[in-house]
Amino acid sequence: MTNALPPPKGKVAIVPSILSADMAELGKAVKTAERGGADWVQVDVMDGHFVPNLSFGPGVVASLRKRTKLALDAHLMITSPENFIAPFAKAGADLVTVHYEAARNPLAALKKIRAAGMKAGLALKPDTPVGRARKYLAHIDLLLIMTVYPGFGGQDFLPQSPERISQARHMIDASGKKIWLQVDGGIHAKTVAIAAGAGADSLVAGSAVYGAENPAGAITFLRKLSQQ
Ligand code: DX5
Repeated sequence: MTNALPPPKGKVAIVPSILSADMAELGKAVKTAERGGADWVQVDVMDGHFVPNLSFGPGVVASLRKRTKLALDAHLMITSPENFIAPFAKAGADLVTVHYEAARNPLAALKKIRAAGMKAGLALKPDTPVGRARKYLAHIDLLLIMTVYPGFGGQDFLPQSPERISQARHMIDASGKKIWLQVDGGIHAKTVAIAAGAGADSLVAGSAVYGAENPAGAITFLRKLSQQ
């Protein structure tokens, strides 16, 4: 039994992204995440079309599923994500996040994710107004506010991010629903407190974890900084 994605519990969740890990050692990367006390792991799925990069498919999730009990969060940065919901469910993903800008019908995609027994996430690119997510709040367990333009790890946290995170925080709180507010991109020692302070409670970090001398220690360090 995997640790299914817990509901938000008022504490910040640290979520390593394996996009920045050694691609030949992804099994080790999730073990490192466990050792560092990560809350869950993110698998950044890219198709070279919605974003100018290629990364993982459902097969990587299926392999990692056998190696860890941590919940696996598939962030689909792909066109027509509705076509891949069933394969990621079969592979053992616990959460699938689709991009508002990529789904032909975001509501149908979100309903399909939940019907497949997974938690549903909706992601917004940095130029998409936060308010576009309002009408989907009843259908999501997580809202992902991208703090970089999706496609690559190691980018800088965009300056408009704190305002967008705060807008999303107020929108979720006003809805009264238990929805994770996740941010992804440029989260490291200098930005983690800013993101958490603006209201994010799930922080995705790739290069700040897997680019560190001690990745497991980096997870603990980010958590400490997020609580300042
Ligand atoms: C961008 C990716 C990255 C990754 C995290 O498309 O989604 O944001 O997860 O990368 P870092 O933490 O290195 O910015």
